[in-house]
Amino acid sequence: MKVLIVGSGGREHAIAASVAKSSIVDEIYCAPGNAGIGAIAQCVPIGAMEFEKIVAFAKEKKIDLTIVGMDDPLVGGLVDELEAAGLRAFGPRKNAAILEGSKAFSKDLMKKYKIPTAAYENFDNPQDAEAYLEKAQFPIVLKADGLALGKGVLICKNLEEAKEGVKSIMLDKKFGEAGNQMVIEEFMTGREVSVLSFVDGKTIKTMTSAQDHKRAMDGDQGLNTGGMGTFSPSPFYTKEVDEFCQKYIYQPTVDAMAAEGREFKGIIFFGLMLTEKGPKVLEYNARFGDPEAQVVLPRMKNDIVEVAQACIDGKLDEIELQFEDNAAVCVVLASKGYPVKYEKGYVIHGLEEFEGKEGYYCFHAGTKKTEEGIVTNGGRVLGITAKGKDLREARANAYKAVEWATFENKYMRSDIGKAIEEV
Ligand code: AMP
Ligand code: GLY
Repeated sequence: MKVLIVGSGGREHAIAASVAKSSIVDEIYCAPGNAGIGAIAQCVPIGAMEFEKIVAFAKEKKIDLTIVGMDDPLVGGLVDELEAAGLRAFGPRKNAAILEGSKAFSKDLMKKYKIPTAAYENFDNPQDAEAYLEKAQFPIVLKADGLALGKGVLICKNLEEAKEGVKSIMLDKKFGEAGNQMVIEEFMTGREVSVLSFVDGKTIKTMTSAQDHKRAMDGDQGLNTGGMGTFSPSPFYTKEVDEFCQKYIYQPTVDAMAAEGREFKGIIFFGLMLTEKGPKVLEYNARFGDPEAQVVLPRMKNDIVEVAQACIDGKLDEIELQFEDNAAVCVVLASKGYPVKYEKGYVIHGLEEFEGKEGYYCFHAGTKKTEEGIVTNGGRVLGITAKGKDLREARANAYKAVEWATFENKYMRSDIGKAIEEV
C-alpha cells in the first residue's frame, strides 16, 4: 500500500513512525513533512492547505490511503476533496470536523444531547457578551469560536479582564475570523486528561489516556502553548472515570453527530476535566493530539493502517485496540521565547544518539534539512519520548534523553510528568 500523511509536526512524525511499522505498507509520503519525517517517508513540498495539489499528487502516485493529521485541512474539507476524486482518506469530512472547528457548535451539541460540559452562552456581538459578563461570576473563560492554534482561550479573573478579552477576541480580532463568534463559559477546576479515540461513524474505541502540559513554564505558569510535554497513561484516569466517560461522553458524542447527519469517521480527541462533580468535556478535537500522539502511538500494538481502514469501512467493531502495559513520557524541546517570539535556523546536534535505542524516540516538529545539517525551524522543535515500565521510569528515561539533542536557545519544561509523584 501507498500512504500519504498530511502535516508537518511531531504528531505527523509519530503517525509516520506508526505507519512505517505496518506490514501492509510499502511506500510512505508526507506533505509537507519535516527533517525527521524525511528519514522514514518521502516528503513532498506541498502545504497542508494546498488541496488541489494534494489531490493531484495522490491521484498521480495512486495513493491508497491519505491520513490527514492536522486540524486546518480537516476543518477546511480536505477529506471531502479527496473522496470526491475517488481517493480514500482517514479523517472526518468537513461537516463532522466542525466538532473541533466551532466551539459554539460543539457546546450546543453537548447541551442538546446532555453531554457533561461547563455551563456556557454563545455570542455573536461584543455588546451582548459584555452585558452577560456584568452579571457573571469570576473567574470566567472566554473562547474564540474557531481554530486558534490552541491559543484562543482566555481565563479572566475579573470583569475588567473579561471586557478586555471580549475586545481582543471580537473587535481587535486577535485570533482573526475565529473571533466572529465567542463562547463564554464557567471556569472549572480539576485535573485535565486527554483521551483519543478511533471512530467509524457508529463505533468508538478509545486509546490509552494521556496528560498534556499546555503552559510554557514550570508549575503551569506562562502562556498557553500547543503543548510542552505529555505522559501516558494518566494515573488519574481510573476505571471508574473511564466507565463514566464511555457511557455519558464518548458514545453519546458519536451518536449525537450521527443524529445530526454529521457522521464522524476518524479521531475524536476528548479534552476532559475531572471535576469534583465528575468528568466534563473541555473541548473536542477532530485529530490526534500533539504531543499526545507522541506518547500514545508508541504504546499502541495495533497496525495503525488496519485500524484507519476499519474506521473508513465502518468495521471498527471487528478491531480490538491493544496497548503495551508500560508508560511513556514526552518532553518538548522548544526554541527559547516560544510561543511568542523565537529565532530559528540553529543546527541541531546529537540526533544520531537516538539511533538504535529501543524505547527512545526523537520526534521532529519544527526542523529543516539544510546543507549545514538539520536546523531548528519552529517554536516546538523536537518531542523526546521515552518508555519505561512505569511512569517514574519513563520520566527518568525521557529527562536523560533530552540531553542528547542540543541546539542554541534550547528550552524545555523540567516538570513534565511531575504530577505522577502525587499518586
Ligand atoms: P481548550 O482549547 O478549550 O482545551 O482550552 C485550553 C485550555 O484552557 C484547557 O486545556 C484548560 O487548561 C483551559 N480551559 C478551557 N476551558 C476551561 C474551563 N471551562 N475551565 C477551566 N479551564 C479551562
Ligand atoms: N495537545 C493539545 C492539542 O493537540 O490540541
